[in-house]
Amino acid sequence: MSRNKIVLAGAGQIGGTLAHLAMLHRLGDVTLLDVAANPPKGKALDLSHAAAIEGSDAVLRGTADQADIVGADVVIVTAGVPRRPGVDREALLGINLPVMESIGTAIGRYCPDAFVICITNPLDAMVWALRRFSGLPPERVVGMGGVLDSARLRSFLAEALGVSVTEVQAMTLGGHGDDMVPLVRQATVGGVALPDLVKMGWITQQAIDAIVQRTRNGGAEVVNLMGSSSAYYAPASAAIAMAMSYLGDQKRVFPASAALSGQYGVDGLHVGVPVMIGSGGIEKIIELDFDDEERRQFARSVAAVASLVEDCKRLHLGLA
Ligand code: APR
Repeated sequence: MSRNKIVLAGAGQIGGTLAHLAMLHRLGDVTLLDVAANPPKGKALDLSHAAAIEGSDAVLRGTADQADIVGADVVIVTAGVPRRPGVDREALLGINLPVMESIGTAIGRYCPDAFVICITNPLDAMVWALRRFSGLPPERVVGMGGVLDSARLRSFLAEALGVSVTEVQAMTLGGHGDDMVPLVRQATVGGVALPDLVKMGWITQQAIDAIVQRTRNGGAEVVNLMGSSSAYYAPASAAIAMAMSYLGDQKRVFPASAALSGQYGVDGLHVGVPVMIGSGGIEKIIELDFDDEERRQFARSVAAVASLVEDCKRLHLGLA
């Protein structure tokens, strides 16, 4: 059986971390693609030395030639410019849209059977554009945003409750932006619903409200502390978990940005919803029963995504 080919389009902070994790988890051989050849070649060389220590036979390559992505099984896209202090995801749109055109076109040409995970921001608009430029079917192109936002929510809840994070299940849906929808009503700790834990006095509603706000602001909090880069460890871990579910047909459920065709009353946009990922790509989209407040918040988040997609169409007439 041949080894999987993992292409990382963008060999910056997240791309390098993805390559390290892919090697450690033995996902297959790794190709790092960037605009300049030497930095990805340098990272690949360094990582191949790390592989010798880790006992991994992964072959790692760096390249600036898009033709080298041919036959990829999984493509994870981080190509583009990240957030900086004071620059929100939306401001990145005009810069990163042409990058999605370049990478998306290359995917359609060289590896149309790949499963594609987009990380580039503004996430929901970029994954939408990437899919359009690639021409791939909706079930094979997904955006990584919700897994990261949910990890932040789970981490903050675990810390506040003093429990293992493995016991905390919680999802953040909608767009990967300031209007994201952290779902606290459906969150569970060891199978017990979070609202019940409030009744039991484990945590106050005010503490939960503060955690929701901190989750919404999670990316900016990291950017402000780091100064010159945005988050990269957690985004990389999230995308690797999704890639593993695809490659291993694990059928795990993730909150992820999927192409909707009527689900949640949304058509023609990518928005964060619970999806099941297996060897068929996105094999199922799960439709939750929202209450009125959740529905209102989700609609507001979808409207923000829709407006970014309109910006994409305005900037690139081929997308209209
Ligand atoms: N093709 C390939 N690589 C590209 C292209 C392109 N057309 N344009 C830019 N790149 C590369 C850059 O050269 C850089 O090495 O993408 C890489 C991005 O890396 P970083 O600047 O380190 O950014 P990173 O922190 O990895 O974040 C990447 O993910 O979370 C999002 O907001 C973040 O959009 C950003 C993306």
